This record gives sequence, structure tokens and C-alpha cells, in this order.
Amino acid sequence: MIHKLNLFGNKKYTKQHTSPFESFKSFDNNNTKGAILQAHRIVKTYHHNRTGEVVVFDNYNMEIQQGEMIAIVGASGAGKSTLMHMLGSLESPTAGTITYKGRELSTLSKQELAYMRSKEVGFVFQSHFLLNELSASENVMMPMMIQGKEHDDAKNMAYNLLATMGLANREEHYPLELSGGEQQRVAIARAIANNPSVLLADEPTGNLDNENSEMIMNIFHNLNRQGVTIVVVTHSDSVAKQCSRVETLHSRQAQLLTD
Ligand SMILES: Nc1ncnc2c1ncn2[C@@H]1O[C@H](COP(=O)(O)OP(=O)(O)O)[C@@H](O)[C@H]1O
Ligand SMILES: [Mg+2]
Repeated sequence: MIHKLNLFGNKKYTKQHTSPFESFKSFDNNNTKGAILQAHRIVKTYHHNRTGEVVVFDNYNMEIQQGEMIAIVGASGAGKSTLMHMLGSLESPTAGTITYKGRELSTLSKQELAYMRSKEVGFVFQSHFLLNELSASENVMMPMMIQGKEHDDAKNMAYNLLATMGLANREEHYPLELSGGEQQRVAIARAIANNPSVLLADEPTGNLDNENSEMIMNIFHNLNRQGVTIVVVTHSDSVAKQCSRVETLHSRQAQLLTD
């Protein structure tokens, strides 16, 4: 079985707790106010064989303040997911800059970007993307093990996190043995396992009923109260209303750019 592989076996991990981002640390300690993420004059185009360039963003600016809980809304195709990917350094803008804690993403080294994705920013998607071969606790342990945490510490932490998500006694269940709402809560536990500063959630309640959506939003509120900046893409008015600010993306018509 895949989950019996060395991933959670006897392998010793080298401790690597020092951040290559010393400036992030000092920023964190000394400055709890101000923008945590900035998008400046963002252009994003995709090339399409038949229609030419699809312009998703053209000179787009936005700022997310430290400690904010912001909703991103807009019609399907408006660029919400594209924006989340750019903010989380999973995708680059065609032009313009994304700045995280004062550091422009395009200037970061590979190592710094990897650190940012693994430690600074947590991602939650509409589909949970849990590994079905791993138990709930193993899924949550994964990012901590990658960061070099000892197996037993990671396991304790995973159990604690799952308990705070209302999933005590479900730790050894596999994703397919859990409901959609429970799976999404495991995914949130995994996303916050390394104690990120920002949680980017792309339609996290899109597949859930009202009761489960409420539960997810309560978890987000609790995290936000603990200082985590939350960015949540949603189609739900009730989710948007619970956020301190709503950013609306306006659909651009797909444009044909001719040379
Ligand atoms: N990899 C891609 N290649 C080409 N076009 C893309 C790609 N990703 C997204 N798009 C286009 O960019 C636009 C915005 O997509 P997306 O960010 O997924 O919108 P949303 O999340 O708001 O529904 C859409 O028109 C989509 O077709
Ligand atoms: Mg989307």
C-alpha cells in the first residue's frame, strides 16, 4: 500500500527550521499592520490557438491588509482562480508585480518561493485534493514532515488540528470514508498545518451544503481572529457578507489582440 511507503516510516528528516526569509520574520514581529499582499498593475493574458490572446487582467491593482478577511467575487471566468494562483505564487503575471510582505515575488529565489508556498501561504480549493491513500492525519502531517518536523510531533499536531476541526476520532479514516464537509475540514487542517500567515481559499464551500459551509466559515473566522489573513473566493452571498471586505472582479470580454 502506498501509505506504508517511507513517507511516514523510519526515515529521518534533517531539521530545517531556519527560514531563508529572515526579513519575513522581522516583518512579522515588528509590523502587524499594513499590506501583506499587493498586486500592482497586473496584466495576465493566456494564449489561445483559435481566439488569440485572452486578456484576464489588464492593469489590475489590489491590496490585502494583514489580518483582513476578504471575499473575492465575480462571474465565472472573471479571473478569480487566476488571481489566487498569482497571489500564492503558483502562477506568474504576464506583467506587473505581486508583493508579499514587502518582497516582490519575481525577485525571490526558487528556495524562497518553495518556502513561501509551503510555510507562509495555505491553500484550500473547491475540491479538497486529499491523497486518498493516506489517512486524514497522514494528509495533515505531510506538509509538516516536508518542513522537517519530527514524526511524533507532526502526528500530535495533526491530531490536535483535526480535533479543532471537529474531527476527533476520524484521524485514521481515509478520505473516501469521510463526507464532503469532513474532507474539506481535513484539507483546511492540512493547509494551516505549518501555521501560515495567509490562507487562500478558492470556492471552499462550493461543493457543500449550508450547514457544512457554516462550519467552514466558523473555522475561517476563528483562524482570522488568531491573526491569519483570509482570502476566500465565493459565489455565496452569505459567505461574502461574513467577510470584512468584498472585492468584485468584473468579467472582461475575451479580447482578440492582433499584432
Ligand atoms: N491555462 C489557461 N489557458 C487558457 N485560458 C485560461 C487558462 N486558465 C484560465 N484561463 C481563462 O482565463 C479566464 C479566467 O479563468 P479563471 O481564473 O479560472 O476564472 P474564475 O475562477 O473567475 O472562474 C477564463 O476566461 C479562462 O478560460
Ligand atoms: Mg475559479
